[in-house]
Amino acid sequence: MMSKKVEKALNAQINAEFWSAYLYLAMAADSQSKSLPGIANWFYVQYKEELDHGMKIFNFLVKRGVKVELMPIDKVPTKWKSVLDAFKDALKHEKEVTAMIDNLFTLAGTEKDYATQSMLQWFIDEQVEEEETPQSIIDTLIRIGDNGSALYMLDKELGARTYTPLDID
Ligand code: FEO
Repeated sequence: MMSKKVEKALNAQINAEFWSAYLYLAMAADSQSKSLPGIANWFYVQYKEELDHGMKIFNFLVKRGVKVELMPIDKVPTKWKSVLDAFKDALKHEKEVTAMIDNLFTLAGTEKDYATQSMLQWFIDEQVEEEETPQSIIDTLIRIGDNGSALYMLDKELGARTYTPLDID
């Protein structure tokens, strides 16, 4: 049986993943308003992946016979001075998510909930990429500076990102 502490923390993590989805959707809208459709696409794919992350935990709770408690999603920022600032915020947020996942893993261990630890292992691995990708885009954007044609090329490149549904069962 899942402990109340783990149950509460996993429900909070569902909320954090859906908040992340909302954040990336706001970044997609902001990039569209800056006439950068490729970067908007990248954020939009990220939004869909975050929904999958939330649903992966949602389905895990259902399988374990635990009631899912959906909580309100807090407001997200909606405007960034530049796409560089948006990616910096994305990286900062992903670092916070990594800390949440690490704390959850530790809690599950303390509660001897090894099934939860096993499920969380996927998230631990995923967070490495979740931090690495925005960091590499930030590095590129810093190199680009105010070079319009280089930004155009990056926009084209990020426009090629496609969504692959995650196995959420
Ligand atoms: Fe669900 Fe971006 O971590």
